[in-house]
Amino acid sequence: MNHVTKDICYIGVNDYDLDLFEGQYIVPLGMAYNSYVILDEKIAVMDTVDQHFGEEWLANLQEALEGRVPDYLIVQHMEPDHSANISLFMEKFPAARIVASAKAFTMMKNFYGIEYEDRRIVAAEGTELSLGAHALRFIAAPMVHWPEVLMTYDSTDKVFFSADAFGKFGALDREDPEGWACEARRYYFGIVGKYGAQAQAVLKKAAALDIQTICPLHGPVLKEDLPYYLNLYNIWTTYGVETEGVAVFYTSVYGNTEKAVKILEEKLKEKGCPKVAVSDLARDDLAECVEDAFRYGKVILATTTYNADIFPFMRTFIQTLSEHGWRGRKVGLMENGSWAPTAAKVMKGLLENCKDTVFTESQVKILSGVTEENIAQIDALAEEILK
Ligand code: FEO
Repeated sequence: MNHVTKDICYIGVNDYDLDLFEGQYIVPLGMAYNSYVILDEKIAVMDTVDQHFGEEWLANLQEALEGRVPDYLIVQHMEPDHSANISLFMEKFPAARIVASAKAFTMMKNFYGIEYEDRRIVAAEGTELSLGAHALRFIAAPMVHWPEVLMTYDSTDKVFFSADAFGKFGALDREDPEGWACEARRYYFGIVGKYGAQAQAVLKKAAALDIQTICPLHGPVLKEDLPYYLNLYNIWTTYGVETEGVAVFYTSVYGNTEKAVKILEEKLKEKGCPKVAVSDLARDDLAECVEDAFRYGKVILATTTYNADIFPFMRTFIQTLSEHGWRGRKVGLMENGSWAPTAAKVMKGLLENCKDTVFTESQVKILSGVTEENIAQIDALAEEILK
């Protein structure tokens, strides 16, 4: 059995077959749906798992139970990757009760047609639940990632059950060559990014707790070096700059805009830029591009005029950033257009709702091929963005 502490066991599952998480995110390293059981005088199970893994999860639970019977199913989050096996659990253990927020019970009815009126305990911020030696306290975490979310603090083992927060893409037994932060960042900005203020509010509540272990609903249990993870979450939830450097995002139809981007990349490096992260929006993973836009404080957008607008991948990218609450960045624009270039103006308009965006005065205007004049403009843009 996989013990988190003496009394808390991991009973989650790994998914290697998922094509798109939440219908949109590629998961080359698979995905984990975490669930835990707290074994005390009373027994509490923390969330269920995705619909395809009910039997495997139940087998993990039975192994941990060693013949005992759970008293509570704590439903922290109603998204189906965690809630799909509620009815399986409730049928298997007819004496068990569900502990969840009022909103979660409404969602239960909406998703699964049942809200367990006679088998429920409605919890909210500050509600306490004693399992015997283990004292649980619930922490409301609206919009991290849905409005019904409760997180749970076990003050006995000093374990923080953080729901989707501190999660990441990737199955638990797949080595992540890039470490925890890369897929955790892509996950955070893709899934929670828009709700930085709400996530920050939860971090403030967590700061008042003595936490030795974080048990998220995805990704590994975090025990070592907690300040590292908390610091990253503090940066991400406040839209801070994590890495010094410039992120460059481009689209290119015939290679001319790409050529200009390569010249810019060289110039930025020559001028001492510590890191230049270049992404081709037509070919690179959108969620990876979004996380880079949040990671760096300085961003260059380069695209072509297209149908009197901008190239579709750039439009999607900027709209996605805007929808995710992207803000506080210094932005330089490069446009290409053979007869009526309008891309810079369109990009600026699309960024209107991104708070505290500062545009460079320097811009690059290419009229098809890259000219000597363009190279001078690129040089000026590189100089100004690095200031
Ligand atoms: Fe992992 Fe928001 O569900």
